[in-house]
Amino acid sequence: MWEILWVWGETFLRWLHVIAAIGWIGSSFYFIHLDYSLQQREGLPAQAYGEAWQVHGGGFYNMVKYLVAPARMPDDLTWFKWEAYATWISGFALVVAIFYASANLYLIDPAVMALSPTAGIAISIAALVLGWAVYDGLCRSPLGRNDTVLAAVGFVFIVALAYAFTKVFSARGAFMQIGAVIGTIMAANVLMVIIPGQRKVVADLIAGRAPDPVHGRRGKQRSTHNNYLTLPVVFVMISNHYPLAYATRFSWVILALTLVMGAVIRHFYNMRHQRQPSPWWTWGVAAVCGLAIVWLSTLGPAQSERPRKRADATAASPVKFAQVEDIVISRCSMCHAEEPVWAGLSVPPKGVLLDTAARIKANARQIAIAAAWSNAMPPSNVTDITAEERDTLGAWISSGRD
Ligand code: HEC
Repeated sequence: MWEILWVWGETFLRWLHVIAAIGWIGSSFYFIHLDYSLQQREGLPAQAYGEAWQVHGGGFYNMVKYLVAPARMPDDLTWFKWEAYATWISGFALVVAIFYASANLYLIDPAVMALSPTAGIAISIAALVLGWAVYDGLCRSPLGRNDTVLAAVGFVFIVALAYAFTKVFSARGAFMQIGAVIGTIMAANVLMVIIPGQRKVVADLIAGRAPDPVHGRRGKQRSTHNNYLTLPVVFVMISNHYPLAYATRFSWVILALTLVMGAVIRHFYNMRHQRQPSPWWTWGVAAVCGLAIVWLSTLGPAQSERPRKRADATAASPVKFAQVEDIVISRCSMCHAEEPVWAGLSVPPKGVLLDTAARIKANARQIAIAAAWSNAMPPSNVTDITAEERDTLGAWISSGRD
């Protein structure tokens, strides 16, 4: 009974997380578009920066932006913040429910670093806090005055963290951790910088003081960062279902390339929204990054000590199905069976059954993706599959699996 409630709790939480993120990303994309499409026209109020006309849902909208603030405070202001907060809160709850509650399966891999669950969780939380602190420090430092330099340094910082995580957590844990750090930076930008700045501006206006324009500038900078990070962070979130992304040797480089890919695609739209010539080159860069990602993912599982050419070496001696069956039965079937014997599992995970010869053959491609080309399975290598055994599975798939 508890298990069923747990599974549903996680399901509803995931639903909430996706919906909240849609709300946040949707409003963020909308405002970026609006901001870039503003036009300066005569006849606008004195403090107005520009206006835009839009049509949606059967009506026309005339949006006017006030750069610092309007002369008089409107009585009713809509704030956009709960989309961000709800996304972060539900996301963190999911990390707790999956990665912290089953740290041994998802967060830690003794072959990477022998951590206790408590130590793993403590490092994970500390990294969320420190990631934000360093990023925020960079933005406030003199570097923060030059947007391009700041972006370059921020990029190196995130990629370095991603690399460091692959030396601490399991492959899956490491990838999720970098996604959580980026998501935390984005939500903290809203909570700690954008909203407090806006509150100060509102308070100043009500008190009849001239608001400091620094709040508007700072808010805009953070909001632009969030905009460029959106596509990569969504990729990290869905990549959990794609072992070739997170459980191959160069997952951190794959992350770096998705940061570039996501940012250039956003840039394309940002330019178009400004009615600038479309920078078509961005799609070329994105395609090259995409191809590089595909290629990197073929270089084999993470944390494998064997040289890269191993697959060719094993392919020389044909693999018998009996060998494959032995490996899968001894390393996988305790979890992937009708009635798993692994403590805490009551149904085969994701409905994948690997307990008979026929089922193993039927799932050949899935087995290759999860256990030969990547090391996503077994989770944290709890059943100690060896690199040779992974190669045998790989060779079986490439030799036509009979
Ligand atoms: C300790 C239990 C356990 C062992 C052992 C195990 N798995 Fe899994 N497997 C899981 C869990 C849990 C999931 C679901 C992961 C998730 O939530 O995405 C899973 C998911 C999968 C999936 C589906 C992936 C997806 O996203 O659809 C495949 C394929 C798979 N395992 C293959 C294997 C293979 C092959 C082995 C043996 C080399 C193996 N597993 C060993 C627990 C295990």
